[in-house]
Amino acid sequence: MVEYNKKVMQHFLKPKNVGEIKNPDGIGKVGNMICGDIMHVSIKVKEIKGKDVIYQIKFKTLGCAAAIATSDVVIDLAKGKTIQDALKITNKDVVKELGGLPPIKVHCSLLAEQALSEAIYDYLKKKEKKIPKELEKKHKINQEHDKNFDNKFKCGDKR
Ligand code: FES
Repeated sequence: MVEYNKKVMQHFLKPKNVGEIKNPDGIGKVGNMICGDIMHVSIKVKEIKGKDVIYQIKFKTLGCAAAIATSDVVIDLAKGKTIQDALKITNKDVVKELGGLPPIKVHCSLLAEQALSEAIYDYLKKKEKKIPKELEKKHKINQEHDKNFDNKFKCGDKR
């Protein structure tokens, strides 16, 4: 059986950021090709001192303990950040913030990074704002995963 540290268990058993924002500015939906777990992130963005700031952000994840804990933590990390700073958050930051994950569960943290970047992509696209090249690349990869995910799991849950 996989052993998690205390912090991971706290975020898994009592996540603070579960939910869905009404009329979100951006939505990110991603699935894990290996196991079929899915994550949904919704964000509200406000302009503060000329910068786009994520002021509301929630998640819904159907997945393992690591997927739920990393989802909860990525929301903590992104809340109140500018879009530019939130885009710098990686799954490694999420794992570090949790004090580590068992090696076999590190892949679960990718959902958090991907769903956040997809929500930001969606926001920038809708507002017709400039999309950084790196984010465009990530989005294309996520879209490819999305297609494969649908083909593999054929459940339509992400829609
Ligand atoms: Fe699926 Fe953890 S086993 S995300």
